[in-house]
Amino acid sequence: MTTRTNAPQYLSGFGNHFATEAVPGALPEGRNSPQRAPMGLYAEQLSGTAFTAPRSENRRSWLYRLRPSAQHPAYRPFAQGLVRSGPFHDAPPSPNRMRWDPLPVPTSPTDWVEGLVTYGGTGDAEALSGVGIHLYAANRSMVDRVFYCADGELLIVPQAGDQTFVTEMGRIEAKPGEIVVIPRGVRFRVECSGPIRGYVCENYGAVFRLPDLGPIGSNGLANPRDFQTPVAAFEDVDRPTECVQKYGGRLWTTTFPHSPLDVVGWHGNYSPYKYDTARFNTIGTVSFDHPDPSIFTVLTSPSDTPGTANCDFVIFPPRWMVGEDTFRPPWFHRNVMSEFMGLVTGEYDAKEGGFAPGGASLHNCMSGHGPDQASYDKAIAAELKPVKIENTLAFMFETRAPIRTTEWAQTSPTMQLDYDDVWTGFEKGQVT
Ligand SMILES: [Fe+2]
Repeated sequence: MTTRTNAPQYLSGFGNHFATEAVPGALPEGRNSPQRAPMGLYAEQLSGTAFTAPRSENRRSWLYRLRPSAQHPAYRPFAQGLVRSGPFHDAPPSPNRMRWDPLPVPTSPTDWVEGLVTYGGTGDAEALSGVGIHLYAANRSMVDRVFYCADGELLIVPQAGDQTFVTEMGRIEAKPGEIVVIPRGVRFRVECSGPIRGYVCENYGAVFRLPDLGPIGSNGLANPRDFQTPVAAFEDVDRPTECVQKYGGRLWTTTFPHSPLDVVGWHGNYSPYKYDTARFNTIGTVSFDHPDPSIFTVLTSPSDTPGTANCDFVIFPPRWMVGEDTFRPPWFHRNVMSEFMGLVTGEYDAKEGGFAPGGASLHNCMSGHGPDQASYDKAIAAELKPVKIENTLAFMFETRAPIRTTEWAQTSPTMQLDYDDVWTGFEKGQVT
């Protein structure tokens, strides 16, 4: 086995056309597919958008690898486990607000693929629209196994444990607080040295990109240079390697006679990346009122309707609260967009207890939600001096379509059957 990695080295920038090689000279100069690629490598174009997508939308990379990706036998069905996919007809749609305790750490050896659990989603993977929402809990590395998703790109939010994503295009080391995005089709292996947990937004639609900033101007929110794409790294392993893929809503498997993580060099703008949410330039009021949470958008997957996202990835990081005469926690609201929330660490400022790190909540289209009674009482009595919310990181996958939950999510013992109770007991307003 030969492994050459340059990890942990990254290239900075968002959506850039990078060129990187693990071995000097692996990339051909001046052309993408020369008659003979350097070093006997095989050239392969990996396209994440249609060939004819406008230049500003077009994502593709050229990979130079030890063997062609095509060199494998037929795929056959793989144990589906608790993985589901859009269209989500697994259970009837529910208008109810839902909240779940964290997934327990597995008691038997479980890798990242085996530890995936689908909570729900929107749209249809085959229509290239919507999202699948999964959580994972695992306790061992994937060994002689890689995974890729043909149904969408994966936005992964590690919640517990350091996690290494060994991808075709380089090695990403991530810890809670960072996020990892792996494009549709890119193969990877997840390694860990102990229990890990996290969340996954499987984006069937347009690839995630930075939101427009409008009147905010040319700086702020997530800055492009803070996104990190791995330098090329490869392994030369002649051992059978299982490749599991998600295709058409189901899991499939085949076995390569070698590791397919064998890309010696690549160039292009279709590549995995990570981002540390601590770098997010949080913007909020310096006068009064609580801005819409869209001010916290890190990445967005647009839909065909302007301003109406297939999915927004929104974070609630540490920040100062300074609004005068303002109800500072998230207000009561009902929203056409649907909100799936997770908590990486700490406490969310609209809930006192009940929403644990690793847990999740769902507030679907037009369902009334907002602070619980304890948070409300505290907020209306608070002295409004500047306060810093610290040691917390909540996030939201916000989608244009109602989220349909899976049967597992609706019946799991982790579901909090008393969640509605957090909004009971509010006293009637005093109209005189
Ligand atoms: Fe909300």
